[in-house]
Amino acid sequence: MSGDSRSAAGERVGENIEDPMATCTSDMEYFESYQDFDTHRLMLADKVRTNAYKDAIYNAKHLFEGKVIMDIGAGTGILSLFCANVGAKKVIAVEASELARFLPKVVEANGFQNVIEVIHSKVEDVKLDLKIDIMVSEWMGFYLLHESMLDSVIYARNKFLKPDGLMFPKSAQIFASPCKIPELWKNCHDFWNEKQYGFDLSCFSDVAKIKNKPEIVSVASDCLLSDAQLLWDLDLMKISLDELKSLNDRRFFAIEEDGDMQGICIWFTCAFPVQDEEGVDATLSTAPWLPETHWKQTVVVLPEQTSFEAGDITGWDLHLEKSDHGRSYKIQLECLDANEEHPVPCLCGSVKCELVRHFMKTHPDPSESIMNNTNV
Ligand SMILES: C[S@@+](CC[C@H](N)C(=O)[O-])C[C@H]1O[C@@H](n2cnc3c(N)ncnc32)[C@H](O)[C@@H]1O
Ligand SMILES: [Zn+2]
Repeated sequence: MSGDSRSAAGERVGENIEDPMATCTSDMEYFESYQDFDTHRLMLADKVRTNAYKDAIYNAKHLFEGKVIMDIGAGTGILSLFCANVGAKKVIAVEASELARFLPKVVEANGFQNVIEVIHSKVEDVKLDLKIDIMVSEWMGFYLLHESMLDSVIYARNKFLKPDGLMFPKSAQIFASPCKIPELWKNCHDFWNEKQYGFDLSCFSDVAKIKNKPEIVSVASDCLLSDAQLLWDLDLMKISLDELKSLNDRRFFAIEEDGDMQGICIWFTCAFPVQDEEGVDATLSTAPWLPETHWKQTVVVLPEQTSFEAGDITGWDLHLEKSDHGRSYKIQLECLDANEEHPVPCLCGSVKCELVRHFMKTHPDPSESIMNNTNV
């Protein structure tokens, strides 16, 4: 993940454009950005993030003891230290940026020189003659996938993880909800229509409406217009590089309260393969109603706002396409009329979609069609 200093660029509402980040996201520039200590300070100071890893690793002491761990993108080495502290036999801390040159000192300062081995390299270039029991990595970017560091983690998983090995985290989920964003909307849209220093600059209004990047902002939970829905659930033990090239989703939401839909709010969660006393997976969540993380939420601002009343249904086709040379995605969003075809199953709550869902629950055999069931 990256800090505030770096933007989530390359996305657009409604049409494709050239990704403005594509030409400035070479690996060299990417790793240089991680030489900035402020970025690492920001990540370490994000208690929600860092404690989620710490708690997951400390609660999984039994899994780490005596095991060989790889920390992919070790940065300041904090996750490697957590792993060493719970009794890992060996931790291979792989870091591509120049920060790796400091890591042996960090390891020594904490007395783990017999446990943590630092490799200054891209994980893709690492050669190992042993297999890994557990892979730990904090690879998440804005809206989860920005930066595409997950590609490196998948590459390492395929090459080094034992067949019965574990991934920390083991899965990641992307959620969304339609939202209002009054402040942002005012800045993005109303600004150009108001006189500036007594002059009319409103001819910029139409072009300024087309946002070429999503906004990284904290969205108040009462700005969500609908219950959140899970768009994608990525199983990190299984997901392939191909599956990350493009992601498509058609979705409809029931509006819960009257309001202007001005954007879609996107956030993510991750789950670790360790459970609390109630048997619930340890998670890291960046949901709007939970304490803020440095990822905040990602908002795709719409070119036009639409007024909805509670009970209305809205929907969209969302398409994420990895840019050819960069680490970002092009995001295409097309708003849909409630009458467009809904996916099956659909959580919009309409009578038709609820009937379909009920039918699917009671008739799990996919060869039975709702269309030829006379009771429906
Ligand atoms: C989000 S930071 C996490 C740093 C640290 N693990 C933490 O949790 O504070 C990701 C780190 O991974 C490194 N990185 C990204 N891709 C890498 C790759 N392919 N090989 C090695 N290091 C990589 C970056 O340079 C950066 O330091
Ligand atoms: Zn529906």
